[in-house]
Amino acid sequence: MSLNSLAAIPPYVFYELDARRNRQRAAGKSLIDVGIGSPDGPIPDVVIDAMQRTAADRALSGYPYFRAHPAYTAAVAAYLDTRFGVTVDPVAEVLALAGSKEGIAELILSHTNPGDVVLVPEVYYPVYARATLLAGAVPVFVPLLADGRLDLDAVAPADVVRARVLIVNYPGNPTTSTITLDDFASLVSYAEQHQLLLISDLAYSELSFDGYRVPSVLQVPGASRVAVEMHTCSKSFNMAGVRIAFVAGKREAIAQLDAYRSNIGYGVSTMAQMAGAAAFTHHESIVPPIVAEYRARRDALVSAMQAGGWDVHAPKATMYLWLPVPAGYDDWGWVDALLDGPGVVVTPGIAFGEAGRGRFRVSLVQPARVLTKAAAAITVIAAAMASS
Ligand SMILES: Cc1ncc(COP(=O)(O)O)c(C=O)c1O
Repeated sequence: MSLNSLAAIPPYVFYELDARRNRQRAAGKSLIDVGIGSPDGPIPDVVIDAMQRTAADRALSGYPYFRAHPAYTAAVAAYLDTRFGVTVDPVAEVLALAGSKEGIAELILSHTNPGDVVLVPEVYYPVYARATLLAGAVPVFVPLLADGRLDLDAVAPADVVRARVLIVNYPGNPTTSTITLDDFASLVSYAEQHQLLLISDLAYSELSFDGYRVPSVLQVPGASRVAVEMHTCSKSFNMAGVRIAFVAGKREAIAQLDAYRSNIGYGVSTMAQMAGAAAFTHHESIVPPIVAEYRARRDALVSAMQAGGWDVHAPKATMYLWLPVPAGYDDWGWVDALLDGPGVVVTPGIAFGEAGRGRFRVSLVQPARVLTKAAAAITVIAAAMASS
């Protein structure tokens, strides 16, 4: 199964983007990289301290706990309580993960049989569909309404019957769409009605602006009967390289994921878990300066794009702008024009599925002045095509 499944999966668009970017770098070109969403800010000091102390602690040098270190799950439970008012059993309802990307993949692999359907938003973070294909299951893409909600009524009844999993991602990458708790409650009801595992990917839980606070699906009463939620330190705490995340919620799903993971690994690095514990414990002091920096970047980029005539609004959350490709270009043509011309690296919309075609994503991973420069360069290239 797996070799065939692997052969059926198209090449990862970020790999291709990397190759094109690296070719330009090797040729000596200086680039403004706003492609991949890898935070450029420093790992918080309190997190570095925790990693250093763990590295020096002989009692922690052996294999980690399979599920999670109790200090990590205790910090996670305290975070969910203070941040969302959500109570979880740290033993049965939390599992440490080495990043939410592989956690999502493992959840799909441990919850589907070949031929099952996984319901995926039509514009999606790539691992949702790719892990589904690796499992021999079938991704069925759910159309997005104009306000970013899923049009679940549009899914064919036969697909709903075969569906085992529904994945949602709010705030969304790349769409930047947000959600209300009422909408989460509707998704929980839908999952209950159709006996689905609801996976909420909350990668951008802390990166929100202008008074908007990102809700957790676990705030919906009874949600943990059907839902799990993926949280990560990558974006909220500038820790993408540390690889630490967790899943919380439905205990049977977590037990099944644990059983799967215990067959292929030894749990998550203790150093990463202690780093995560420090981050979640100190979230209230770590997050505000990070958010303030992204907000300043967002505002600078949005103003510069608006000044260049782009119809763009400031997103309420995430670290992205999701923009239309100018007339006259296809996705890769536009990406190449920016790369070969001013040397700006952006992500083509098709990285996020067919429905992403015709758009591109800019990540706020450069200082405001660099983003302003990128916006000016992007505008010049778009205008050159418009006047040709
Ligand atoms: C929506 C979404 N989910 C998951 C991830 C992966 O995060 P992690 O670093 O925890 O694997 C990303 C990273 O860009 C993302 O945008």
